Amino acid sequence: MKILITGAGGYIGSNTAKVFLQAGYSVVALDNFSNGFKAPLELLQKEFGQEKLVIYTDDLVDDGGASVMDREPDIQGIVHFAALLNVGESMQIPEKYFTNNVIGTQKLLHAAIDHHIPYFLFSSSCTVYGEIDNPPVDESFPVKDASSAYGATKQLCESMLHWYDKLGKIKYISLRYFNVCGASDDSTLGDAKRETFGLMQNAVKGALGMREFDFNYQKVNTPDGSPIRDFINVVDLADAHVKGLEYVMKNDTSEVFNLGTGTGNSVLEIVNEIKRVLGVDFPVKDAQNRRTGEIPQIYADYSKAKRLLEWEPKRSLEQSIKTLAQFYKDHPHGWE
Ligand SMILES: NC(=O)c1ccc[n+]([C@@H]2O[C@H](COP(=O)([O-])OP(=O)(O)OC[C@H]3O[C@@H](n4cnc5c(N)ncnc54)[C@H](O)[C@@H]3O)[C@@H](O)[C@H]2O)c1
Repeated sequence: MKILITGAGGYIGSNTAKVFLQAGYSVVALDNFSNGFKAPLELLQKEFGQEKLVIYTDDLVDDGGASVMDREPDIQGIVHFAALLNVGESMQIPEKYFTNNVIGTQKLLHAAIDHHIPYFLFSSSCTVYGEIDNPPVDESFPVKDASSAYGATKQLCESMLHWYDKLGKIKYISLRYFNVCGASDDSTLGDAKRETFGLMQNAVKGALGMREFDFNYQKVNTPDGSPIRDFINVVDLADAHVKGLEYVMKNDTSEVFNLGTGTGNSVLEIVNEIKRVLGVDFPVKDAQNRRTGEIPQIYADYSKAKRLLEWEPKRSLEQSIKTLAQFYKDHPHGWE
């Protein structure tokens, strides 16, 4: 079966392409390579063959991938990662985010409908829940006012998906990720963004001496005063996409799922775990400008994904730290 993966040259897209290829799918990889890279996809072509993975450079804002769909007529489903995700930048230049993420998704949806591709998987985020005060969060929690323009783009895309489903145009799965971390099990595919945002990514780089790491969170009401988040391994996350696509194809019904571990770890716990696993005591400074509006704690109730997708996260924090550290050691300058 052939699927289209948008944003396939990115961190989660490349890891998910690998898992789909391992499951026997053919993958059409689409990316404008604004933030992603051809190198991880070429690596996958070497491993699985060029006929199983075809790479297209295309910008969804131009034609929603229609020209790629014209050339690849038998695509059965779309896994849509392509987006910009720098929360800070989205507050400085919101128009860039609304154009890229919302218009890009709208055009992709239209191209998919025109090409009779009925199944759609969307990369959403726990940011859609806004501020919550009693985790774990399940999917019945209300979608609240987003705390960033980036978060608002995810809400708007989910809203479009809801409407296209209601109008009988597509069936979709929206996957609301918590904090994604780690690298592929063999450490060949990791988070190579030029500027990484994730706590684990930046703290591992700090531990390896690749950048300064400082605490930029606002003190919050948790036992150690640092925010609590849910860290999900990227391969576990990728596995859920295969199960999600198979679910929507089999049941022909749309659903929303949280993807997390069900466990919260504080920023301080993560930093201490990185120090323990990598055996280094790296310096951590206090950032000059601390973030504001920090949600004290958020972690997932993933029991719906467990029940309907038969999915469960399997990889430990230790494994995520080790695979990510190895990826950064092997690629100190990313993919370039
Ligand atoms: N990384 C996380 O912790 C996290 C958490 C929640 C949700 N998400 C969502 O997961 C998805 C993937 O995130 P990631 O961490 O892999 O990011 P990434 O930046 O590594 O990958 C995104 C990819 O999309 C491509 N892209 C962006 N705009 C495009 C466009 N208009 N046309 C074609 N390609 C385009 C980029 O070049 C890049 O390769 C995003 O939708 C993001 O919002 C990520």
